[in-house]
Amino acid sequence: MSRIDNASPGGRFLGKILTHAPTNRRQHLSHMSTPEPPREASGQRLRESGLVGKGFTSDVYAWGEGRVLKVFHAWVPAATVKREFRLARAVYAAGIPTPAVFDLVEIKGRLGIVFERVDGPSMLTYTQARPWTLFRVVRQLAELQAQIHGCPAPLEIPTQRDWIAHGIAAAPDSSTAEKEAALRCLAGLPDGTALCHGDFHPENVILSARGPVVIDWTSATRGDPLGDVACTSRLIQNAGLPPWTPRYMHILLQCSRTFLHRAYLQRSLELHAGTRQQIAAWQAPLAVAAKSWRVPGTPNPS
Ligand SMILES: Nc1ncnc2c1ncn2[C@@H]1O[C@H](COP(=O)(O)OP(=O)(O)O)[C@@H](O)[C@H]1O
Ligand SMILES: [Mg+2]
Repeated sequence: MSRIDNASPGGRFLGKILTHAPTNRRQHLSHMSTPEPPREASGQRLRESGLVGKGFTSDVYAWGEGRVLKVFHAWVPAATVKREFRLARAVYAAGIPTPAVFDLVEIKGRLGIVFERVDGPSMLTYTQARPWTLFRVVRQLAELQAQIHGCPAPLEIPTQRDWIAHGIAAAPDSSTAEKEAALRCLAGLPDGTALCHGDFHPENVILSARGPVVIDWTSATRGDPLGDVACTSRLIQNAGLPPWTPRYMHILLQCSRTFLHRAYLQRSLELHAGTRQQIAAWQAPLAVAAKSWRVPGTPNPS
């Protein structure tokens, strides 16, 4: 069995997520909610080491023994990087399978976070090599997300309501009337205490030999699981693949998006108490808030 097959997104690995007990070190880290000012890091080390991954907001490089450095693009506000540092530490401390978080650094004027290195393909890379697994993977994405929702969110994580309200207030290209309507909709939606990732998609799950590891917690909140399902539902319906993904994947997604979304929603509804209508109710406020979460240079969310 090859390394990647061994790390295949099967129930065996998904089953592990809740057995990940927090260590004392994790509990200790949870109290360190204010990041230190970033340390200056050497540019030389970054040049010498290899690129291990790319996201919309960052490039991720090997960084010494067993670590990576996530270097954020210059347009990413410092507050967003510090927010990710703080949230990633809180989530790690809560015992969620996510990389350990070591340091906030500055490298040639750009901010970076040093994480534990996790070897394995992302769920997206995995399906790229095995397109026939796409539907299985999307159902497993729903299962993994439901398992995360089963974990109470650490108290220092902001509420979903505040996060979405802040997104609505900051949304460019939205009239005051649109924003007010979105806020009224949001006011009618429930609160919750579940850990919600907020940007849960196949590129943010690494299939490691120890099971799925969830990364990229910048948008993490404490809230209603159905609101988080609505976020992923929105991504599956609208988001584009990263431009460096092979062309056949773009075509495959175009052809299968509706069916993938149906499969994701169906599995999510089997795993959560709630209805399709309750999930859909989040879409109006999310549509406005998402305008302020958009990565520059990517198409406007519909
Ligand atoms: N801790 C890690 N270990 C190994 N690879 C990583 C790690 N964190 C990120 N990566 C790689 O870098 C990519 C981008 O990381 P991510 O945190 O999602 O960045 P972005 O916020 O820009 O989307 C991931 O899809 C993965 O391939
Ligand atoms: Mg990402």
